[in-house]
Amino acid sequence: MDPSTAAPKARFIDLEPSEESFLEAVVAGLRSDPKRLPAKFFYDEEGSKLFEKICQLQEYYPTRTEIGLLKEIAPQLRATLPEGTQLVEFGSGSNDKVRILLEGVGRFDSYVPIDISREYLRAQANELAADFPEISVTAICADYTMDLHLPRHASNLPEARLGFFPGSTIGNMKRHEAITFLSRAAEILGAGAGFLIGADLKKDPAMLNAAYNDADGVTAAFNLNLLKRINRELGADFDLAAFQHDAFYDEAEGRIEMHLLSLADQSVSIDGQSFGIAKGECIHTEDSHKFTLDEFSAIGQAAGLTPEEAWSDDSDLFSVHLFRIR
Ligand code: AVJ
Repeated sequence: MDPSTAAPKARFIDLEPSEESFLEAVVAGLRSDPKRLPAKFFYDEEGSKLFEKICQLQEYYPTRTEIGLLKEIAPQLRATLPEGTQLVEFGSGSNDKVRILLEGVGRFDSYVPIDISREYLRAQANELAADFPEISVTAICADYTMDLHLPRHASNLPEARLGFFPGSTIGNMKRHEAITFLSRAAEILGAGAGFLIGADLKKDPAMLNAAYNDADGVTAAFNLNLLKRINRELGADFDLAAFQHDAFYDEAEGRIEMHLLSLADQSVSIDGQSFGIAKGECIHTEDSHKFTLDEFSAIGQAAGLTPEEAWSDDSDLFSVHLFRIR
């Protein structure tokens, strides 16, 4: 191909993150009491597809509500961000949300997606670079909780950098983990930078329960896929029919908890080790914390960030917060 007509490509920086061994994490989680499995392992290929389906469910309001908010906020960001701002996304995943910012804000000259999932990151970054030839894309394959340095941005204004952490992914973390994550991210972004974060809001428990117990059973399939993945990748022998999806809102903790409930006394073997699971016993697979606007601002402040603005939709379903890094 003539290089002058080739589609622009993303620069790719591979920090070779050491991924936690799936086997070790699964064995440790099943040995602990109560049993648990880390939610980050939901997203193999099948799990990612199921999650995309979840995002389109009638009952699952977060994705469409956040997208609506980002469209609404974009003109305000356009008015306040300096020309030549660098947009840095933590755990970038798919391009859907960043496109809204790149199109609607129009102040960015570079985009830095950071993700641990190497091939998906490469593909998404190249796609974005081709669609936005005026924006320089530098993908960084890294665990975003470790030390990393961002590429310099063209502008020397400290406020010409915006961190982006959408989707209420932060809701998966416990309060102290969220604070640690935000302080590390703040260090990476540097003093003066903005930080735009999506956080799901507390609301009628019936609506929360419905969002994680959809009528089509997609969330149940997403939850059970974790066992399927363990069978597939680790050669385990989980009997999927002997487990039931269980998700509920715990009002005192302010979070949705997802579990896999064992319907029988059973045992599963993984890598030559055997684990007994009693009838009625649960494997805890996910926490998804919900916040009030003030609670989330307070978490930012506990991490040393200054709350600048918070937006929510008319029904107060979801929020997007802008913090400033000191
Ligand atoms: C991607 C963590 C934000 O907690 O709502 C959706 C994942 N789990 N349905 C969430 C999820 C079950 C989602 N997050």
